[in-house]
Amino acid sequence: MTQLDELEFDNVQIDQHGPIAVLTINRPRALNALNADTLSEIAQAVNMIIEDAEVGALIITGSGEKAFVAGADISEFGDLEGVYDGRELALAGQDVMHQISSLPIPVIAAINGYALGGGLELALACDVRVASTGARLGLPETGLGLIPGFGGTQRLPRLIGTGRALDLILTARQVRADEALGMGLVNYVADNALTKAREVAEAMLKNAPIAVSLVKEAVRRGMDTTLEGGLEIEADLFGMTVATKDFREGVDAFLNKRPAEFQGE
Ligand code: CAA
Repeated sequence: MTQLDELEFDNVQIDQHGPIAVLTINRPRALNALNADTLSEIAQAVNMIIEDAEVGALIITGSGEKAFVAGADISEFGDLEGVYDGRELALAGQDVMHQISSLPIPVIAAINGYALGGGLELALACDVRVASTGARLGLPETGLGLIPGFGGTQRLPRLIGTGRALDLILTARQVRADEALGMGLVNYVADNALTKAREVAEAMLKNAPIAVSLVKEAVRRGMDTTLEGGLEIEADLFGMTVATKDFREGVDAFLNKRPAEFQGE
């Protein structure tokens, strides 16, 4: 089978170290902006990563010192001619973000610089966000006569609340990493976002993979329903964890005061 890090793409790169795959958006000359080819390569790369049973966590980052991703590629906007072109672009970006947010393994954004527009929307599709001290985050679309189209109007208010989200989107301002941390937009700030993201991934990888995956499902499905409906989802998925070997292992390890060894079964 082809090793993940042997796959060749023009605009993304995959590196794999044990159970952690790192997907790097690699167009530094355009600050890693998401053109159509890059979006399509991200989708292909994510499909390949998820088929590799060895991968238990994914980190998404940007190449170079300056940018995570500076948004959708504005140089391609000249080709957009009307309502349907715009809608198609938004749906294409939303599909990729949805693919990422639905992955059964933890996905961490290592925000190593500018995360603007579609770049912040990519980070919002991840489970956890780590920003480098110098990162800048924002949704500048209204300044271009657009609205965020890769999920920003929906995921941002769900993450940080309607008032804060509207402030960020309507002012189109960039926030620094420390402010982003204060408003819950990122989970961690570190000198080196990728190093910290690896630490976070390692911590997640110590836990039972099926439980980790079902937590993601419970949270994701629960966000789209009532509290009552969400609690039912939680009870069902809790029931599924009780049927796993890893649950037996976790309890036995605790009772025998030893570290658990989970098999993902
Ligand atoms: N699309 C295409 N090219 C981009 C880009 C983008 N989003 N962002 C930066 N670039 C290119 C620049 O055109 C420039 O290319 P050249 O060297 O060929 O001129 C190169 O990257 C370096 O950028 P700058 O010279 O502008 O660097 P800077 O340090 O002066 O500024 C910046 C950095 C503040 C991030 C600035 O580049 C910027 O404002 N970029 C655009 C950010 C933006 O508006 N993003 C939202 C896009 S719309 C969107 O994402 C819609 C959606 O919801 C899906």
